[in-house]
Amino acid sequence: MSQSSRLAEPMVRLTRRQFLWGMGGGMGAAAVPLSRTAYHGYQINRLASQPRSFALSSLEPSLAERAAAKGLIYGAATQHHLLANDPEFAEAVLRECQMLVTENDLQWNQVHPDPERFDFAAADGLAEFAQMHQLLLRGHNLVWHNSLPDWFKTTATPQTARQILVNHIQTVVGRYAGRMHSWDVVNEALLPADGRADGLRQTPWLELIGTDYIELAFRTAAEADPAALLVYNDFELDYDRPQDQAKRMALLRLLERLKQRDVPIQAIGMQAHLWGGETRFNAAKLSSWLEQVASLGLKILVTELDVTDQPLPQDLAIRDQIVAGAYADYLAVLLEQPAVIAVLTWGLSDRYSWLAEFAPRSDSAAVRPLPLDQHLQRKLAWQAIAQAFDQAPVRTKQSATSGAATSP
Ligand code: G3I
Repeated sequence: MSQSSRLAEPMVRLTRRQFLWGMGGGMGAAAVPLSRTAYHGYQINRLASQPRSFALSSLEPSLAERAAAKGLIYGAATQHHLLANDPEFAEAVLRECQMLVTENDLQWNQVHPDPERFDFAAADGLAEFAQMHQLLLRGHNLVWHNSLPDWFKTTATPQTARQILVNHIQTVVGRYAGRMHSWDVVNEALLPADGRADGLRQTPWLELIGTDYIELAFRTAAEADPAALLVYNDFELDYDRPQDQAKRMALLRLLERLKQRDVPIQAIGMQAHLWGGETRFNAAKLSSWLEQVASLGLKILVTELDVTDQPLPQDLAIRDQIVAGAYADYLAVLLEQPAVIAVLTWGLSDRYSWLAEFAPRSDSAAVRPLPLDQHLQRKLAWQAIAQAFDQAPVRTKQSATSGAATSP
């Protein structure tokens, strides 16, 4: 094993949740590389010794065009200031994407900085960019336990939280009514490790409003924009590991409860923050679960797809190959399910990935999780995604139906 391919010595051991959400939610934890033991079970050496081909007959057309040819939507999460200040990045987005997702411009702490004040400047800029270039737009997110503004902690009480939530959703969703393909209405409300029988995560919303905050959010969003597809979004639904299996089961039960109550939910979002080197992936088990979700009449979106290369050796060829293989294996399963209507990566280029800040490599090498590299060049990951779209079954028109704002 060459020097460069040995994983760096452990620095700090974080639980997976701390890694993904302790930093991702801006909770102040300093982003640190995970320790070697955190990757227990990863088969990095085996994957590194198995070269795979992601050959394409041509490097054209773009991801959006390849997806659209199968009745799918491809897009990426981004932020208005990136498009406004980096014209070559904006050009790459226009070349590759049919949909934009508001990565941060509609997070509570960005759009609702004071109890009585909203700041839509960034989100309006992103919406105008999408409209100008005839791109679809999806809003992320309306209810989350992270990224809550400081005022929330001192203002929200059991007596006020319901109205705070309703007012936020009415104001934000109402502003973009008719222009949003879909909304992540509730984000990451499940965490079986918190020990509740219903698998719900202990969040401020649960504590302040009770379990019906989820139904309240969906009903409020549906009233504010009947045209948008309303989505429940979560992570750790992907692998054949206890925590993923537990969350898949809890989500299925939640969806069944919501459907029994005629709650206006039309889809789930699988964030799909994947891990290069993680091989505990059971295609048959995941396919079966996807079919159970689809059998509830729900659509499925892959909403935050990326593949962290933090566990991987420094060698670029090995890293890119393992990352591309993770994209290929995951999308091969997801795209077989006709209810899957969209694939959205959490960023388009390594130049702008949340992982650079929240999952830096212990060797300080630039992270390479996304389809385009820092120079906006297409990578093996891009080829793997393109190949997945090319190999995907064609969606019939009705299977891709989803809300009024479904085509440019
Ligand atoms: O905008 C401020 C800036 O003014 C300030 O100078 C700077 C100081 O650190 O912070 C900036 O805000 C940051 C924001 O991203 C915009 O860049 C927040 O600190 C930072 O916490 C925030 O991180 C985002 C995180 O969600 C929390 O909101 C990540 O970029 C974003 O990729 C991440 O996305 C989440 C999804 O919402 C839910 N699923 C997981 C995903 C990854 O964590």
